[in-house]
Amino acid sequence: MSDQLTRLAYRTLQQGKALFGITHKEVTNRLMAVLAPDGSPRTVPVPAELISRLQESMDDLHARDWQEAEQGLYPASLLFDAPWLDWAGRYPLIWLDLPQIWNRRRARRVRDLPDGVDASLYPDYYLQNFHHQTDGYLSDHSAALYDLQVELLFNGSADPMRRRVIGPLLNGLRSFGERPAGRIRVLDVATGTGRTLRQLRGALPEAQLMGLDLSTAYLRQANRWLAQVPGELPQLVQGNAEHMPFADASVQGITCVFLLHELPGAARQGVIEECFRLLEPGGVLVLADSIQLADSPQFSAVMENFRRVFHEPYYREYISDDILGRLQAAGFDAIEATTHFMTRVWSARKPASPLQPAST
Ligand SMILES: C[S@@+](CC[C@H](N)C(=O)[O-])C[C@H]1O[C@@H](n2cnc3c(N)ncnc32)[C@H](O)[C@@H]1O
Repeated sequence: MSDQLTRLAYRTLQQGKALFGITHKEVTNRLMAVLAPDGSPRTVPVPAELISRLQESMDDLHARDWQEAEQGLYPASLLFDAPWLDWAGRYPLIWLDLPQIWNRRRARRVRDLPDGVDASLYPDYYLQNFHHQTDGYLSDHSAALYDLQVELLFNGSADPMRRRVIGPLLNGLRSFGERPAGRIRVLDVATGTGRTLRQLRGALPEAQLMGLDLSTAYLRQANRWLAQVPGELPQLVQGNAEHMPFADASVQGITCVFLLHELPGAARQGVIEECFRLLEPGGVLVLADSIQLADSPQFSAVMENFRRVFHEPYYREYISDDILGRLQAAGFDAIEATTHFMTRVWSARKPASPLQPAST
């Protein structure tokens, strides 16, 4: 009975978040059309039938999220985990930020970054206002708003999508089954504000968790959130995912969520190859990113609108990219892919070397 009540609470929470997200977007779009019409993006129409398919797909995601918590992959408490009070305090800041976003969009300013940023520290493709975000990824202000902005974008389903990496990760780590849990190292690449690490800590309470990102501001925010979670604080490292400061074969699992679509093709390949280098033979890489045209052609209008509304310079190329081919080219095998609402998840294994089986 209490299980049914918890499930009902979860469904109600998700429906509430979806309603809030949809209303927020509707109101901000209308306001923009009135207050900043020349910056308003021309979107393609999304027919009612497509909206109901999106709703079904989101419901499937939540059903799966519930099911995997019930199966014990992660604690059910994660399904309700969010800094509600903190977000309530930050929500007005999202509104106050809107005029700046509209101005930048209208003027097509996509490299409007804080004064004093040392451009030599970052790859050129990174120095942009992704999503038209104020300061790009390069300020505490941006880091403070990011989680809530993503939640609003995905109608409250961002964490359920991030949690889809947990099943394939745990599955892949089974090849190290005899190793004590505390000697398993898992790295979250492009960890941002650490939301994925927060989910991973729930599923892997004893593992050594690490997160890497280019943004020190986002890592500061991650540190604040993660310090509230019981267990060892994940190690957070600033660096470029194309050249990570870790030794060869030093981790058993890697996750990477919502990074690939923000990289040009060559960097995308570079990151996948770098993950291959870091993994111990038998280790597992789990990537999660936007759906693509090949797996979700029915949602092509949604992908097109995402590109039109947000500044996502590499997205058009990403949605046609052959990620499976890239993983194979890097040397991975046992590649599997699944789709959950707006997210495609790939898992891939670094082949175990014949002289050093993964289970020893
Ligand atoms: C869309 S956010 C995703 C963040 C996080 N994984 C999540 O689920 O919310 C993209 C992140 O990738 C980081 N990033 C982009 N390019 C990078 C690179 N070459 N190396 C490391 N981090 C990078 C950004 O700083 C940002 O935090």
